[in-house]
Amino acid sequence: MQEQAIAWRHAGDDIGVVPTMGALHAGHDSLVARARRENRRVIVSIFVNPAQFGPNEDFDKYPRPFDQDRNRLDALGVDAIFHPSVDQIYPPAFKTRLDPGPLGDVLEGRSRPGHFAGVLTVVLKLFSLTQPKRAYFGQKDFQQVVLVRQMVRDFALPVRIVAVPTVREADGLAISSRNVYLNPTQRQTAPVIHQALTQVAGAFTAGETEPARLEGLARERLAAAHGLTLDYVSVVDETTLRRPERAIPGSVLVVAVKLGSIRLIDNVVLGAERP
Ligand code: PAJ
Repeated sequence: MQEQAIAWRHAGDDIGVVPTMGALHAGHDSLVARARRENRRVIVSIFVNPAQFGPNEDFDKYPRPFDQDRNRLDALGVDAIFHPSVDQIYPPAFKTRLDPGPLGDVLEGRSRPGHFAGVLTVVLKLFSLTQPKRAYFGQKDFQQVVLVRQMVRDFALPVRIVAVPTVREADGLAISSRNVYLNPTQRQTAPVIHQALTQVAGAFTAGETEPARLEGLARERLAAAHGLTLDYVSVVDETTLRRPERAIPGSVLVVAVKLGSIRLIDNVVLGAERP
């Protein structure tokens, strides 16, 4: 993969990379389509990264429908699918691990210790193997984008990180590979997450900038939903992930909830044209 990527770069071709764990859906398609538009070459990686799963998470049962994914990517038109084995990425002699620093300990990182160390370690290796000029990540995993951007700055990596808007079902639920685990009742409840986010975005646009009040609105809306437990609701700065004194355009409301045992995350950028 690395030899091919270096050859493309030497030939003057820009490479756009879309890192994924497979089980591709419309959200991934949108990243690939954007990469397709902006680069001469597009590489999609499919790698279920053991390093970012906790001991009680779903690494073993994470879906791996490779043939389906390949057909989907063939239809979209990509130059390469990079589908390494765990041993190729983490051979027995592999030792180095990235420490994401304080941004990795909050929000998702607090609920999933070690998760972002695993994400950054694999993303850095994928960048080295695929030599991207641009790399595409979904806004849905907002904290992931923030951490990857921080890594790119900290290590002066010559990669531009492009955040792509969240693709949603018709009822607003953010598309996720884990949505298939929802039972019909949970699936009916799930759109309340986006409704709560939209309501808060509306309140911000109407003049409410007090983070606690904005969070309270979301919390109330979510508390009314049956069978849903709240992990966190927080207004954060888009770069530092700290709670601002006042929300400003570009501040992000992030939410994580559980429906039964299924954890769902979503977010909205305040003051964006279309929340
Ligand atoms: P995965 O969950 O497969 O997601 C791959 C990319 O698709 C991520 O950047 C994610 O934010 C994006 N994505 C997922 N759902 C989306 C949606 N509804 N709309 C837009 N984009 C969406 O995220 C990972 O894999 C891994 O952590 C990875 C970056 C590959 C590192 O292992």
